[in-house]
Amino acid sequence: MQRWFQQMTRPLPHDPRAVLITGGSSGIGRAAALLFAALGDDVAVLARREERLLALQADARDKDLPGEILPLTADVTDPGAVQRAVALALAEFNRLDVLVAAAGLGQRGSFIDAPWDDIETVLRTNIDGVVHSVRAAVPAMRASGGGHIVLISSILGPVPAPFAAAYSLSKAAVDALGRALRGELRQDNIRVSVLWVGQTHTEFAEKRLGQPGRVATRVPTMPPERVAGEIVRALERNSSAKAVRRIDGLFVWAGRRFPGTMDRLLARVYG
Ligand SMILES: NC(=O)c1ccc[n+]([C@@H]2O[C@H](COP(=O)([O-])OP(=O)(O)OC[C@H]3O[C@@H](n4cnc5c(N)ncnc54)[C@H](OP(=O)(O)O)[C@@H]3O)[C@@H](O)[C@H]2O)c1
Repeated sequence: MQRWFQQMTRPLPHDPRAVLITGGSSGIGRAAALLFAALGDDVAVLARREERLLALQADARDKDLPGEILPLTADVTDPGAVQRAVALALAEFNRLDVLVAAAGLGQRGSFIDAPWDDIETVLRTNIDGVVHSVRAAVPAMRASGGGHIVLISSILGPVPAPFAAAYSLSKAAVDALGRALRGELRQDNIRVSVLWVGQTHTEFAEKRLGQPGRVATRVPTMPPERVAGEIVRALERNSSAKAVRRIDGLFVWAGRRFPGTMDRLLARVYG
C-alpha cells in the first residue's frame, strides 16, 4: 500500500462525520467510502446495485473499520428515491455533514449519430443525478448546521473533448453548478468543492456508452484510492475546483492557455 494512502487512513482527531456518497458501489465512490470509514466517519453509500453495496458493507466489517457503512439502494435520476435515501441516512446518523456526488458514467463517439438513449442516460445521470443529490442533501446539511459538498467532475469539464461531447457537457454543467453553489450556500455554512479527475482505473471504461473498454494507453492511470484521498483533502483545504494530479492540472491549464493546439490534439486522441 502506498505511503500517502496509509497516511490518509490514519484516523484523525475529529468527530465522526456523517457522509453520503453517491456511486458508492464501485470505483471512486467505493474507495472514498472505505477511506471515510477508515477515518471513523459514518458513511451512507448510494447506488443501484444492492449486492455491491452489501459487499462493501461486509468488506468494511471484515477490515474492522471504525466507521459504519449504510447501504442505500437508489437511482440518482429519480429525485424521490434520492430524497428517501437522504431521509434514511438522516434517520440513521441524525445529521449529514458531507455529500460526495460521484455517481456517473461516460459516453464516447459521434454526438450527432449516437443513439439518443445513450446521450440522455449520460445527461440524466451526470447532471440530473448531481442536481437531485445536492437538492436532497442541502436541507439535511442546513439542519446539521453546515456541511461540505464534493462534486466529482472530470478534466473534460473545463477542457471539452471532441467525440466525448455529451460527457464533456455533463461535467461542464457540474463545474458550473459547483461554482454557483459555492457562493450561494456560503450563508448556510455549506462549502462546495469540485474535483477534476483524470483517467482512473475503475469500471468506468468498460461501462462507457458508445465505445466501452477503450482506455488511453499513453495517459497515466491512477487508482481510485488516489482520488479518494483527494476528496478527503478537499474537505480539509476547502478547495474550490482542483485537479487531482499535477498532470491533470497541467492538462486543464494547457486546454485553457492553448485551446487551438489542445483541440487539435484531443481530436487526434479521441477521434
Ligand atoms: N474513471 C475515470 O477515468 C474517471 C475520470 C474522470 C471522472 N470520473 C468520474 O468519476 C465518477 C465515478 O466514476 P468511476 O470511475 O468510479 O466509475 P465506476 O466504477 O463505473 O462507478 C460509477 C458509480 O456510479 C454509480 N451509478 C451510475 N449510474 C447511477 C445511477 N443512475 N444511480 C445511482 N448510481 C449510479 C454506479 O453504481 P450502480 O451501477 O450500482 O448504480 C457506480 O457506483 C463519475 O462521475 C465519473 O464521471 C471518472
